[in-house]
Amino acid sequence: MAKSKIVDNPATIPLYQQEFYSCLYENKFLTKLFNHQRFLNILTFGYSKKLADACIAEVNPHQQVLQLGATFGDQLGQLASKIGVYGSLDVVDVSLTQLRYVRSKYRFTYPYMNFINRDVTVPFSGKYDVIICYMLLHELPLPTKSKLINQILANLAPEGKVVFIDYNNAVWWHPLKWFVKMFNRLYQPFAERMWQTEIKDYIVNRNSYEWHKTTYFGKMYQKVVITRKSNLY
Ligand SMILES: C[S@@+](CC[C@H](N)C(=O)[O-])C[C@H]1O[C@@H](n2cnc3c(N)ncnc32)[C@H](O)[C@@H]1O
Repeated sequence: MAKSKIVDNPATIPLYQQEFYSCLYENKFLTKLFNHQRFLNILTFGYSKKLADACIAEVNPHQQVLQLGATFGDQLGQLASKIGVYGSLDVVDVSLTQLRYVRSKYRFTYPYMNFINRDVTVPFSGKYDVIICYMLLHELPLPTKSKLINQILANLAPEGKVVFIDYNNAVWWHPLKWFVKMFNRLYQPFAERMWQTEIKDYIVNRNSYEWHKTTYFGKMYQKVVITRKSNLY
């Protein structure tokens, strides 16, 4: 794969993104603002950093890693730093604006990062040790969530894992629960599904996989790690 270039043909931005998220992801000013880790920490009561740390703890040096969608803040940089020069990190994003931004941010520091302009819900070839889906699932409509989860499981190396970081159904007394619910109803119409359905329940061939779920911040966020059952290798 070409190093540090944006590869593939320009992908078409899916309808859900055009409708609800392009105002953020195609806006260079907002992209720059949201990329400040301190700003993200304020917005998330410090959990932006904690979630990035929890995600990176799942990765080992020298692995082949795929990240679905660029992220704001330091998560991608921390990840690339942990993987190191003997590993590789493919960052796939449907938005050229986001890919160009992260490429300009990281290409000299981490030349083993590859930037791929593609819709991750379209099947692709390749096997990865770790596939990271970081705060993406809640943005997808229901059929797309299911399609994506099952498709990426097919791209796992035999002993690989998929790591999901996303919203979760917070405990009833959480001071922010009803604010988040209102915000989601207004601006993130597919996010509440994360409260209602466990990520593991989307897996078609569920008996072949194991999963481990950890929650954070009064269950507001979750990390789910999915691996193949070892007796199936
Ligand atoms: C990974 S989430 C990150 C959410 C938030 N920006 C953060 O940092 O926590 C959003 C990114 O995923 C990308 N994205 C959304 N749907 C996609 C798809 N079907 N294929 C590839 N990238 C997608 C968006 O363009 C956006 O850059």
